Amino acid sequence: MKIALGVTGGVAAYKAAELVRRLQQEKLDVQVVMTRSAQEFITPLTFAALTGKKVITEMFGAGGAEPANVESAIEHIAVAQRIDLLLVAPATADILAHFAQGIARDFLSTLYLATKAPVVVAPAMNVNMWEHPATQENLQKLRARGVHVVDPDEGYLACGMTGAGRLAATDAIVEKVRAVLGLRRDLEGQTIVITAGPTREDLDPVRFLTNRSSGKMGYALAEAAARRGAHVVLISGPTDLPIPESVDWVPVRSTEEMRAAVRERASDANVVIMAAAVADYRPTAAQKQKLKRGDGGLTLELEPTPDILAELGREPVRQNGRRVLVGFAAETDHLAENARDKLARKGADVIVANDVTQEGAGFDTDTNIVTMFLRDGRELPLPKLTKFEVANRILDQVLEGQKR
Ligand code: PMT
Repeated sequence: MKIALGVTGGVAAYKAAELVRRLQQEKLDVQVVMTRSAQEFITPLTFAALTGKKVITEMFGAGGAEPANVESAIEHIAVAQRIDLLLVAPATADILAHFAQGIARDFLSTLYLATKAPVVVAPAMNVNMWEHPATQENLQKLRARGVHVVDPDEGYLACGMTGAGRLAATDAIVEKVRAVLGLRRDLEGQTIVITAGPTREDLDPVRFLTNRSSGKMGYALAEAAARRGAHVVLISGPTDLPIPESVDWVPVRSTEEMRAAVRERASDANVVIMAAAVADYRPTAAQKQKLKRGDGGLTLELEPTPDILAELGREPVRQNGRRVLVGFAAETDHLAENARDKLARKGADVIVANDVTQEGAGFDTDTNIVTMFLRDGRELPLPKLTKFEVANRILDQVLEGQKR
């Protein structure tokens, strides 16, 4: 996987050299980007030697002295599209302010705006600068946008003061990067059953009732859980998505087929996550022959489908609290009220609710905006994140619930 490491101008910039080594040990391909002030503390040559790549130091022209050219001017877009993660360590108060305000002043701040990859920042600065309301407000803004912050450590600072502001330990930064990229193996030994996509309920041999689910949310969960070491059983309604690597893929079509597959595979599972958009109703009787067009209207008679999630919620293994059960709620109104109702009625531990009318949320988008409703009454809203990041946050919550 490819990551860009942004190095900004603080005394801790020298620690970024060790960070590069540690990231490389994780088999990450590192491209270093330095701000001008970072170059006052450490030379690009150090990073070029470590990575075997030219360090990006200027927006236009390789070293500033070279004339601007179209290739270098659009390089930030190419890098932005190439990377799986942008890490900034150390991150000064100045770069955090630029990110928070969306000011594209140099290559690094432009890269932040141009990339859709997750962003991790590890701030390092004087304690007064760290505690200043301006810095804290900027961090709050960035966190709300989904930026991951590795808080600085407390201790003796280069400026001679003592307090918070020292760059977090290299191991803590690397651990956060691994977590965000889904490279932790913290789900090893667990079997996780995940449902994804729509179901199809046949009307006749050529027509069916279905919905707009693309399967992206469920597939992101499957990929994230597999990367974290889980044995994943992905029970999928019809989708156009490629089958994720290292998962046990079970294709199904109707609610009844999904129910049978879930009941069979859930018996050995530690966790079941129902991200599928399961039909609530199906035609009372599917016609054997194609329905013929008549002169008048057509009334369909529908019956409710079995509620797979609620059935699992009533099983004894659930009542013993030995299997974590996560449901979703796709809502268009009264999100919190409906989610709390589903949590209680379906016997789930977590309901992940999304307002599917919101831009960037719900059906067939690469991002989602969700709130997790927990049994203990807590509500955890998340900012707009990629479905892969949402998946990792849900899995973090599952792990936290298992520890309690
Ligand atoms: O697939 P994408 O395009 O990425 O879109 C993602 C999504 C919008 C489908 C996903 O984020 C989502 O919200 N999934 C649940 C959709 C849904 O069916 O919600 P619901 O509120 O109708 O159902 C509540 C829960 O009960 C769900 O976990 C559902 O899987 C489950 N259910 C519903 C009906 C039924 N008969 N059996 C069930 O188990």
